[in-house]
Amino acid sequence: MRPVRKAVIPVAGLGTRFLPATKAVPKELLPIVDVPAIQVVIEEAVAAGIEEVILVTGRGKGAIMDHFDHSYELEDTLKRRGKHAERIELERISDMVRAVAIRQKAALGLGHAVLCARAAIGDEPFVVILPDDIIDADPGVTAQLISQYERYGAGVLATMEVPLDKTSMYGVISGAPMSERAWRINTLVEKPEPDDAPSCFAVIGRYVLPPEIFAHLEATEPDDSGEIQLTDGLRRLAADDGLLGYEFEGRHYDIADRLGFLKANLEYALKREGLGTELRDYLRTLSL
Ligand code: G1P
Repeated sequence: MRPVRKAVIPVAGLGTRFLPATKAVPKELLPIVDVPAIQVVIEEAVAAGIEEVILVTGRGKGAIMDHFDHSYELEDTLKRRGKHAERIELERISDMVRAVAIRQKAALGLGHAVLCARAAIGDEPFVVILPDDIIDADPGVTAQLISQYERYGAGVLATMEVPLDKTSMYGVISGAPMSERAWRINTLVEKPEPDDAPSCFAVIGRYVLPPEIFAHLEATEPDDSGEIQLTDGLRRLAADDGLLGYEFEGRHYDIADRLGFLKANLEYALKREGLGTELRDYLRTLSL
């Protein structure tokens, strides 16, 4: 079995749910406390053994690549001012991973974004990471999925049970149980209304996929809005090659949503050394 070494991270989305903050700043650079969301998910990938990330980008997203490049001026200034810990941390971020950017020139959907990375991935398994989904877990969810992939030899999607009235926000699966947390997927539906949902198990933005997904995406017709849905390609993959859902362990935040973003910031800050205790004391003084 070939090792999973590469990750595709679609970052072309406009972040319209977060305007005006995202007018000039890529939404992926909005911080969780003081770490950009994109760095949080790339650290998760690197911890799972990923060596190269393919960022599928769009107009106005150049600052994301800058974040993972050296900033000689800044590093030099920190050096001259004796701020060694900060300089070492910046260097660590620049050296963290090999990053490749591929431009998605039209907003044709998540399936199309993944297809844009086809040449950069080649003939090997890879992960797809959606940076709107931040998952606090140890081991990280990418590592959890890769170990399921290695166990069963089929693609694996992260899944989570959601309330029935939220199914229309997610891809939803149904399948047959294989172990306590793993399902063999029979059906996948993109954003079904509760009445049409095959279950309450939603797909969350982490996928380990074999390279066969590309042929399935090529064969996928755009939906009514003109987008190629990853879910439609995954349905074909499930039918031809088999596909698993894995109910991951960890705490999920949808940071494309304002409340989810605030919850993530608050909970990560409460866990942060040198910040959490003071924040907790401050929150207690608020008459909530
Ligand atoms: C995408 C996928 C959906 C998945 C979701 C996870 O939707 O299309 O199947 O459940 O990510 O976050 P989006 O949130 O980009 O609309």
